[in-house]
Amino acid sequence: MTIVTKRKFISGAALGLAASVSVGSLKVQAQNHSMDTQSGLKTGIMKPISYLDLPGFLSAAQIAPHYQKHYGGALKGHLDMDRQLDAVAHGEKINAYAYGAMQRTRTTKGNSALLHEVYFDGMTAQKSAPETVLKQEIISRFGSIDQWQADFVAAAKSANGWAVLSRNRISGKLYNVISDSHSNGVFWQAVPIIALDMYEHAYYLDYQNNKGAYIDKFFDYINWKNAEKRMMEAEK
Ligand SMILES: [Fe+2]
Repeated sequence: MTIVTKRKFISGAALGLAASVSVGSLKVQAQNHSMDTQSGLKTGIMKPISYLDLPGFLSAAQIAPHYQKHYGGALKGHLDMDRQLDAVAHGEKINAYAYGAMQRTRTTKGNSALLHEVYFDGMTAQKSAPETVLKQEIISRFGSIDQWQADFVAAAKSANGWAVLSRNRISGKLYNVISDSHSNGVFWQAVPIIALDMYEHAYYLDYQNNKGAYIDKFFDYINWKNAEKRMMEAEK
């Protein structure tokens, strides 16, 4: 599998051959887009992914269904539920139990879609290093990049769902947090900076039950430029 060059667009059909899975409308494009304007939560369509695979880390066969089915499915579920709840808010009658389930589903699917966007945007095959603001904040909070990484590894190994570096808008501090079911364990007012998907669907094809190797490799593929952009957004 070759690394996809910047600004090169590849059709979903081409990726389907590479990954042997149905990937529908999956497109590959440059990663210099802005962080949030292309979010599926805003546009209503899946945010493009900028690579087919991450050589040495994750295969196309691992990434494609994860992006298409899990991220795409979460986004679709969120948007569908949002439309239905919008109708209820405008007077459509519904059973109270169904309403509660719909509310929880909208939150769960929305958080899943958001974190998958942070996850896929947050990785790159091009080597990068922590940049100015985020680097300073990590060192200020954790003592060093290595100490932050050790704590993030501990969080990821404890997680069944997500390990996330986030910044809380109220305290102004960075936190490594765990979220096992998208809607639980989330620290309110916290903005995700770096997210690692620890559901088995994210790594099992390439790593089986060796999730430690998946976690260790992740740090070589962090897109620190995008992490820096998210840090700047979080500080606004
Ligand atoms: Fe996932």
